Amino acid sequence: GNVAVLMGGTSSEREVSLNSGANVLEALTSKGVNAFAVDGIPALVQAIQTGKVDRVFNILHGNHGGGEDGVLQGLLDALGVPYTGPGVLGSALTMDKIRTKQVWIAEGLSTPRYVRLNRGDDVREAAKSLQLPVFVKPSCEGSSVGVSRVLEDKDLDDAVRVAQEYDGEMLMEQLVVGDELTVGILGDIALPSIRIVPKGEWYDYHAKYIADDTQYLCPGLEGEDEAAIRALALKAFKAAGCTGWGRVDVMRNRADNKLYLLEVNTAPGMTSHSLVPKAAQQIGISFENLCWRILEMTLP
Ligand code: DAL
Ligand code: MG
Repeated sequence: GNVAVLMGGTSSEREVSLNSGANVLEALTSKGVNAFAVDGIPALVQAIQTGKVDRVFNILHGNHGGGEDGVLQGLLDALGVPYTGPGVLGSALTMDKIRTKQVWIAEGLSTPRYVRLNRGDDVREAAKSLQLPVFVKPSCEGSSVGVSRVLEDKDLDDAVRVAQEYDGEMLMEQLVVGDELTVGILGDIALPSIRIVPKGEWYDYHAKYIADDTQYLCPGLEGEDEAAIRALALKAFKAAGCTGWGRVDVMRNRADNKLYLLEVNTAPGMTSHSLVPKAAQQIGISFENLCWRILEMTLP
């Protein structure tokens, strides 16, 4: 059949998605799949209406014209077109960091303490229940867009100003001092974790996609610790209603080695800098085979 590789779109992660999409397209083509690129949801609808699409490889990051917030998934469900990654519920829930944390907390899974912020809230009042340093984030963006790390009281206002350029709620989240880790999920398996060691202070947009000095250690942990983080990530992914594939970001507190869940990405990056491909590689799954396995899960 014909596979539309959905990429680009109008979210803040458009450039990242085009980059991921080009890699996926090349990989699928090299596996003999009849795949073609589609930029954004309106173009996909057109292609579907002209009967050109049998299934969709969704690598459209973000929300608002991105493909990670459940809107695309609902549309494709209604049209009866199979697609990669989680369905409506998992996508919509995990696009919202605050609601994802609420579900994890209800399930007894650890996530850093946070406060919800709305426009106009007194940020100093909100900050009282946490201790600096904190992160201020838009609740529904990806790739660290709009995220600031706040060390000092005087920087809170700027952080909120940056975060509120994006729609919806914001959260102020307790910074966990320790290691930044991530776990790719492929069907029912958790891939080896990756420990990210950015050259700068934290793994921001620049460290994610531009700098070449970020270090990636895979597997990120050893022995029982590695088994524990994989098990936790898989549990967190399922608890958030997700299926298919994705990536769960986790922090490990330096003081007591405790793990804290940050968020789930349901159409994780597939750029040359991205993490899921690195983890797959570690267990001998090439980029081409990774793309194939993700696509394969959409087959009946
Ligand atoms: N949101 C980006 C694409 C990621 O999680 O890889
Ligand atoms: Mg994300």
